[in-house]
Amino acid sequence: MSHINKFLLLCLTAIGAAARDDFNVLHHLGGNGQWFQGPAITGISSDVPSGCTIDQAAFLSRHGSRYPDSSAYNQWTNLSSRIHASKLTVLDKRLAFLSTWEPVLDYPDQQIAQISTTGYKELYDMGATYRLRYPDLYAYNTDFTVWSNYYSSSPRVRDSARLFARGFLGPNATELGSIFALNSSDPRSFMNSLAPSDLCPAYADNGGSPQIDIWNSIYLPPIQRRLNRLIRGFQFTQTDVSIIPYLCGFETQIIGSTSPWCSIFTEHEIFQYEYAQDLRYWYGTGLGTDIEKYMMVPVLDGLVQQFVDGPNTTYTNSDGSKFVPPRLIASFSNDGQINQLAAAIGVFDKQSPLPANKILRDRLFVSSNFVTMRGTIGLERLSCAEKVDGDRTYVRIRLNEVVYPVAACQSGPGKSCPLRQYQQLVKKKLKVAGNFSKICNVTNPAIPAGQNSANFFTDVSLPFATLVKP
Ligand SMILES: *[C@@H]1O[C@H](CO)[C@@H](O)[C@H](O)[C@H]1NC(C)=O
Ligand SMILES: *[C@@H]1O[C@H](CO)[C@@H](O)[C@H](O)[C@H]1NC(C)=O
Ligand SMILES: *[C@@H]1O[C@H](CO)[C@@H](O)[C@H](O)[C@H]1NC(C)=O
Ligand SMILES: *[C@@H]1O[C@H](CO)[C@@H](O)[C@H](O)[C@H]1NC(C)=O
Ligand SMILES: *[C@@H]1O[C@H](CO)[C@@H](O)[C@H](O)[C@H]1NC(C)=O
Ligand SMILES: *[C@@H]1O[C@H](CO)[C@@H](O)[C@H](O)[C@H]1NC(C)=O
Repeated sequence: MSHINKFLLLCLTAIGAAARDDFNVLHHLGGNGQWFQGPAITGISSDVPSGCTIDQAAFLSRHGSRYPDSSAYNQWTNLSSRIHASKLTVLDKRLAFLSTWEPVLDYPDQQIAQISTTGYKELYDMGATYRLRYPDLYAYNTDFTVWSNYYSSSPRVRDSARLFARGFLGPNATELGSIFALNSSDPRSFMNSLAPSDLCPAYADNGGSPQIDIWNSIYLPPIQRRLNRLIRGFQFTQTDVSIIPYLCGFETQIIGSTSPWCSIFTEHEIFQYEYAQDLRYWYGTGLGTDIEKYMMVPVLDGLVQQFVDGPNTTYTNSDGSKFVPPRLIASFSNDGQINQLAAAIGVFDKQSPLPANKILRDRLFVSSNFVTMRGTIGLERLSCAEKVDGDRTYVRIRLNEVVYPVAACQSGPGKSCPLRQYQQLVKKKLKVAGNFSKICNVTNPAIPAGQNSANFFTDVSLPFATLVKP
């Protein structure tokens, strides 16, 4: 290394900026980063194993990159007002932007909570990518059905499904595409929607508390002290510090170039933030919870049954008409559902619980690798030459495109799981979860009792689904 480079490196490490070439801060922001293809941490090729074809596939995706919700936006404007009310000077030029920093939304009234332009890009790309990936699962210029959760106050999930359909179907998307937008607060949709927790009174996403509070009290104060030593006339609160990586992720995707907030945390501090995100999801809606982790098991159970039925099965809708579902079953929801499904699919079943007081190294559960914006859990049905117990069908799981083996079932080609065994594993989870009316403390008499499996993917005349065009 030349003396000049050494000098530069010293300057960089003075503020502690990332010095490693392969470190990308945007890949360590948990649920607050834009989409990227997950790192190949499992070492399993995503090529179709030899002797196999994919004859059916399904995915649940989070909506694409978006503008902040109003609560986050209020934090940004609050921080900005406090900075501008101060007479701040900084001792490091990486903080020089602070004195002129304004939240990057030009039309907050219209933009808050909506899909951002990077989100449009992610979803169009995703549509085209999936069309290219599964050429045999869709016939040219034919009808195609997609499912989405739908909150009328926040249409970003429905709009993600629309943009995906446009990328998938191309110029005829409006004619060919049908999106069934499900109302997860209609009592008839109990355990039969893309946000089943909405009808579960006992469901409580506590955001990862108390574990995340312990971790925040360990990792944030040193960062706060380090940064505040570089500033005169203004001091960051601990809450301000906790949203710096969030600002980095959101600003970068909203404006389409790297936000100055991304240069403030060191690499080590970003890993600490990433771990806080993992605690948030593990103990908020994941395997570290009592009932929250079960919320997507009924949806998974319905999907697995469709894989068992096979790709060309004709179903009867509740109005008596017939329906052959698409061979690529595409659906969209929010981060909570992605994480609940991650808890259900069996890939994290051997993950030891995440400690609150120190980073668990070499963990498989890293939310940055699948809860990103447009984060996607995919299931593929493999039909292979190889037989297990007289059956040639297997299931393979992909998180942000990377193949993850099911912890307790990986005897098939490419570490896939024999489909019948996978169904047994999911049925077992359903059994352990028990009676959903009971675990949810349901009191609303309009909610049907004993509804423990979803069938909305095979019945398109349910009263709580609204047809929307791309
Ligand atoms: C910022 O938020 C804090 C905490 O909610 C509040 O006390 C303060 O008045 C706010 N400041 C501004 C400038 O909005
Ligand atoms: C759109 O649909 C029409 C009617 O089926 C067809 O003639 C046309 O080729 C389609 N366009 C594309 C781009 O496939
Ligand atoms: C969804 O269902 C709830 C409960 O039945 C109802 O109040 C609401 O209007 C429905 N929303 C839409 C968009 O249909
Ligand atoms: C469910 O209801 C029971 C009995 O009313 C109550 O003891 C329990 O705390 C409730 N659980 C939750 C999570 O609300
Ligand atoms: C499903 O139908 C398609 C198109 O008709 C056909 O190519 C495929 O072999 C069928 N798959 C199965 C598993 O029956
Ligand atoms: C499930 O729980 C509900 C509410 O506690 C109860 O009414 C219903 O009978 C239970 N169903 C079964 C099959 O146990």
